[in-house]
Amino acid sequence: MIKRQQPYIRQIFMCINNRHGESPSCGYSGSEEIVEELKKVAKDMNLKGKVRVAKSGCLDLCAFGPNLMIWPDGIWYMKVTKADIPEIIETYLKLEEADRNRTAASENAAGK
Ligand code: FES
Repeated sequence: MIKRQQPYIRQIFMCINNRHGESPSCGYSGSEEIVEELKKVAKDMNLKGKVRVAKSGCLDLCAFGPNLMIWPDGIWYMKVTKADIPEIIETYLKLEEADRNRTAASENAAGK
């Protein structure tokens, strides 16, 4: 085993669990198509290396899927559609901007 710091600032996890209609599930509600589009948008926006868009297993809120969460911020989106991708990316960019502002404020406080 190798232990290290996480390689990404943030990760966006989207559940792709698919129960094929036997009971509600994100994959059956189109999450695979959404996550692929989200990956494409993140790549097109040069977010590679900052945010990792990853497929996840069941996040246990199946009836409200497709479910997506931004980690480690704990922001959760339910009933996600492709139309929501711009808002998700905007949320990510605001988190990134807040990181920059915090870093600048702490550097100013330290007199750098
Ligand atoms: S199937 Fe997606 S949260 Fe359970």
